[in-house]
Amino acid sequence: MAAGAGAEVMSPVAAPAGAGGGRAAGYTFRTAAEWAEFGAVLDLAYGGHPHSPAHSAVVGAVFEPKRSLVACYGGRPCATLAGYALEMTLPGGPSPVAGIGYVAVAPPHRRRGLMRELLRRALTALHEERAEPVAVLHSTEPGIYGRFGFGSASRAVEVSVPTEARAFAGEVDTAGLTLDVVSPEEARAAVADVYCACLSQRPGLFRRDDAWQRRAVEDEPESRHGAGRLLCMVVSGPGGEPRGYALYRLRPAWQRSRPRYALSVREVFALDPAAYAFIWRSLLDTDLAGAVSAAARPVDDPLLALLDDPRSAAPTVRDQLYARAVDLDRALTARTYSAPVDVVLEVRDAMCPWNEGRWQLTAEADGGSHGAAACTRTGAAADLALTAREVGAVLLGGGSLVQLAHAGRVAELRPGALRAASAAFRHDPAPFCPMAF
Ligand SMILES: CC(C)(COP(=O)(O)OP(=O)(O)OC[C@H]1O[C@@H](n2cnc3c(N)ncnc32)[C@H](O)[C@@H]1OP(=O)(O)O)[C@@H](O)C(=O)NCCC(=O)NCCS
Repeated sequence: MAAGAGAEVMSPVAAPAGAGGGRAAGYTFRTAAEWAEFGAVLDLAYGGHPHSPAHSAVVGAVFEPKRSLVACYGGRPCATLAGYALEMTLPGGPSPVAGIGYVAVAPPHRRRGLMRELLRRALTALHEERAEPVAVLHSTEPGIYGRFGFGSASRAVEVSVPTEARAFAGEVDTAGLTLDVVSPEEARAAVADVYCACLSQRPGLFRRDDAWQRRAVEDEPESRHGAGRLLCMVVSGPGGEPRGYALYRLRPAWQRSRPRYALSVREVFALDPAAYAFIWRSLLDTDLAGAVSAAARPVDDPLLALLDDPRSAAPTVRDQLYARAVDLDRALTARTYSAPVDVVLEVRDAMCPWNEGRWQLTAEADGGSHGAAACTRTGAAADLALTAREVGAVLLGGGSLVQLAHAGRVAELRPGALRAASAAFRHDPAPFCPMAF
């Protein structure tokens, strides 16, 4: 994205009466100067919760102004979009992806096409600069980004396990493992090492440098909501080497004079099944805790197979990461496929019209022996017809083309093409992205 001018930090001004018409008339757009100029817009956009200086420092440290955009009215920022250069695990391995966050428009300036224009500019810049082939974002509401070609690419389950239901389905051998509970600051190296070693476990995980690592263990007092400070449980192997960790908080609660503390888990990673089971065993055995909950776990979290009574966890599925092919050919060849595939896709893409048309995708299973997948324009008859949104939904291996076809969102034009392509796009384990950006 092109470099931008500096900026004053001011409150957004009132919107022009009657402006808009969906084309963001009367507004100027530029790259961001610094994180501080996002502040006033985000404060208003998210309901008057100004960021504390400590939080601004942590979020500001991962901010990439040259990749981020602001829309201005009367010289003042009134809409924002943050861009990040991430390296994310896709099926088959790591790939550069463009993270998008903090898409926000100050209330007086809404429904005038500013979000659309910011996204259009960001995606067009990625395309013109042949930057990251895939864009990803977390969305506050599921209904926003489909129209822009982003598909629901990973799902998460919210779980809450009553500690009475903590029995495991089988024996877990935790011999030689030890447990410690320390502050995230003390556990920083262990957290970073374990997370890094787990990166290839699932699509959706992205590499965290020191600044992202600080963001991952941030302990903002204003977001504790009555809970204690963030704690870190670290499991180590016989040689003292870290093998897993959990970041969590405890919120005091009492019922009929009995302690029913709420233990909420932010993040759990482990290098092997024994360490993973030991962490959950220890969380569920925490004195005073009435339930152990996590707002987001992978849909195929081993926890649900560890529990003898997984129904007690009341897993509730929701959408999580949204993904989009910036350049269809580069996006589809940035990953591997679970089965051999040779399919012609007829793609519609109003937001990124350079992706429109027919594309032939060929690949061997899991990368095969003849190199990467190939995706080229073709005049051949189409096997499947779909929009960019459905492509986004299956990019990370999470969505199902069969499911989308049964919902009428993918058309099978050659009998048999749907099941074969669906099996090739699916990935086991399922994608998951524990951290919003
Ligand atoms: C969501 C938000 C960024 C939209 O900005 P905006 O400039 O008003 O959006 P636009 O005018 O560009 O709208 C583009 C399209 O999205 C739709 N849209 C906008 N907000 C939407 C929402 N919350 N849910 C569903 N659709 C929405 C518009 O109706 C319009 O649809 P159309 O193209 O079919 O006519 C803005 O309302 C906001 O800042 N909300 C609070 C912060 C937030 O939730 N941000 C999203 C972070 S992931």
